[in-house]
Amino acid sequence: MSDPRHSVLLNTGSRMPLLGLGTGQLRGLENLMPAVDAALAAGYHQFDTAAVYRNEVELGQALRELLPKHGLERADIFITSKLAPRDQGPMAPAACQRSLDQLGLEYIDLFLVHEPGTEGLRVEDPQNSVNRAQSWTALEEFLSRGKFRAIGVSNYIVRHLEELFASCKVPPAVLQVEFHPRLAQTELRALCAQRSVCFEAYSPLGTGALLSDPVVLEVAKGCGRTAAQVLLRWAVQQGIPVIPKSSNPSRVRENAQLFDFELSQEDMDRLTGLDCGQRFDPEDPSLVA
Ligand code: A2P
Repeated sequence: MSDPRHSVLLNTGSRMPLLGLGTGQLRGLENLMPAVDAALAAGYHQFDTAAVYRNEVELGQALRELLPKHGLERADIFITSKLAPRDQGPMAPAACQRSLDQLGLEYIDLFLVHEPGTEGLRVEDPQNSVNRAQSWTALEEFLSRGKFRAIGVSNYIVRHLEELFASCKVPPAVLQVEFHPRLAQTELRALCAQRSVCFEAYSPLGTGALLSDPVVLEVAKGCGRTAAQVLLRWAVQQGIPVIPKSSNPSRVRENAQLFDFELSQEDMDRLTGLDCGQRFDPEDPSLVA
């Protein structure tokens, strides 16, 4: 597994790499191969997919082909996937197995409930809550069989997490949510710290929008780094794993240059000061019952 200095300890006792490749916009082997190849060469040890990304088959295939080229084995990398909102509830066990089959893996390192809601239900429908509890039971079962090495949730707000803590047998190891300097997620981070849940950031570049923020550009200029590197460093310097998405091999490489520099406390504070609660993900999980 990866360098302990570049990973975080989960409440399961295993380690999760601080840097992962987000694959949400990568479809088809022709796009996955160059991005995964560049990522493995640059030292990424985590790959983040989901049933809804419709690329599990191709990611599994790309990794099987490319790991030997980079002198790596399955156990050297950490793979995350997620339960689709359409599969919440009674469909969850079959969907968990489908992700394993599509990726072609004996086990998945981390499996998340992708969203608190169920596709096809109105957000206010109380069945959303019943379904996600049932989904969690399925994840716990795959965990107990060693098919998942850790389980967690994504896009949950404090209310959804509290509900899960009250009903689960196994607490979540990870919460993956949108996080960048304009979206501080203060309450969620405090709850995760209190409950030993690893807080993980998706869209750490604000889907690319923060790359032209004047403060980010100033900090980047001051330390001779790119805007993307500064945004990613700001998160990992706080011990928060990041999964920036890129389909471009040179940007995949650029986003891995995070562990050979440090931001000053003043620069950290300037970036933290950008918080304004801005969310780029169009789905608002706080509406889901
Ligand atoms: P591309 O795939 O063309 O590289 P986030 O991870 O915050 O959701 O951001 C993803 C977006 O940011 C994608 O549109 C991606 O585009 C772009 N991106 C990723 N890394 C960089 C980078 N180093 N410089 C510029 N844009 C980037």
